[in-house]
Amino acid sequence: MNDIAQAGDNRLKDALAQVTERYQAANPISLARWERARDVMPGGNTRTVLHYDPFPVAMVKGEGAYVTDMDGHTYVDFLGEYSAGLYGHSNPIIQNALKEAIDGGTVLGAPNRWEAGLAELVCQRFPSIDQVRFTNSGTEANLMALGAARAFTGRDRIMVFDGAYHGGVLYFAHGGTPVNVPFDVVFAPYNETQGMLDVIAAHKDDLAAVLIEPMMGAGGCIVAETGFLTALRQATSEHGIVLIFDEVMTSRSSSGGLQQRLDVTPDMTTLGKYLGGGASFGGFGGNRDIMAQFDPTSPSALPHAGTFNNNVMSMAAGSAGLGQVFTPEKADALFEQGEAFKNDMNTLFRRHGANMQVTGAGSILGLHMTSAEIRTPYELGATSNEKQTLVHLEMMIRGYVYAQRGYMSLSLPISPQDQDGFVDALGDVISTYGDLLTA
Ligand SMILES: Cc1ncc(COP(=O)(O)O)c(C=O)c1O
Repeated sequence: MNDIAQAGDNRLKDALAQVTERYQAANPISLARWERARDVMPGGNTRTVLHYDPFPVAMVKGEGAYVTDMDGHTYVDFLGEYSAGLYGHSNPIIQNALKEAIDGGTVLGAPNRWEAGLAELVCQRFPSIDQVRFTNSGTEANLMALGAARAFTGRDRIMVFDGAYHGGVLYFAHGGTPVNVPFDVVFAPYNETQGMLDVIAAHKDDLAAVLIEPMMGAGGCIVAETGFLTALRQATSEHGIVLIFDEVMTSRSSSGGLQQRLDVTPDMTTLGKYLGGGASFGGFGGNRDIMAQFDPTSPSALPHAGTFNNNVMSMAAGSAGLGQVFTPEKADALFEQGEAFKNDMNTLFRRHGANMQVTGAGSILGLHMTSAEIRTPYELGATSNEKQTLVHLEMMIRGYVYAQRGYMSLSLPISPQDQDGFVDALGDVISTYGDLLTA
């Protein structure tokens, strides 16, 4: 590092230390809660992604697009529960559906009056889904879809993309993690058509499935290029490989998910997040031949278990939400609202000469500390975690919450005025730090 770079680095560290001190002083009750929790939960945490530096504030209330923390600060919620909070915090249709479900008893141990209705809505919406099964999470949905593909093809191997996230046991950054399920996995590069085709060619007779997010979510909100997806669709069809789109995050991108917007139809699709109306949810579906493997009236049926797969809260809130609130028109409008927000932020960065950019599609966006083009998760290696933390804590202090790594998702109650307020606050942070964020 030369002298100028070293001086910049020292200033960044000083700025970070100062904002951390201000954040800590403003959140004594959240800090005390976190310290107490550390005694009985590793890192005071039971869901890794909810930890951020120096400690996370704990929320006590949500209303509309706002959340309030233990120390009494109210924030505009641009995190949106990592996309599960699409309906916001107090939609009356969702609340009434949940109340009705609870009043009718929550553990009926039988099919209930909501699940087939939710399945009908899902099958009508998503081009690739003739039939669907529900699970408790997106992770489970992906595990079941992979199992279905392996049984259907009689092959074992799975192809995934470097940097992809499909759940806590299906995390494929940096070669995977020791807690991953031990599938026979091969890696391909995202958005690199020839590299991807080479991996398929090398394993074509062994591959049961290719699992892909049409936009990498946790990997940095990087949208798959259409030519890349079309080539993937063609190659998988040619070799009898089941193509699975993980639309756990992106299913909100149009009335029929990102697959409809990008005009590429997979064999199977996995779902999650907001489709349970804010209660726990996952789903996997696909063409009739693959899904028929689970028909319990068949003597050779595959098992699909899960005590809470059709729990009344997720089924009732999910069907009320998809049927009455998140109509196809609302889905398109939210996508456009998100695109406008992304453009406003990128315009702001250009105006200030900030070394920052926002990527993503529609209402799911990623803020990055680089203005260089990002097409694959590798290119994110060049971005600065310290700058992310600095900007994140400054935005929290100004009343805006999103994920420290830069992830944002919009909920339906977020207004254009809320978005303008966010852009103004971001402009204020950039002006405050000048060349620390523009150099
Ligand atoms: C693309 C994608 N797939 C799967 C999952 C896992 O879903 P869940 O957290 O419900 O298990 C997530 C969660 O963030 C996700 O973003």
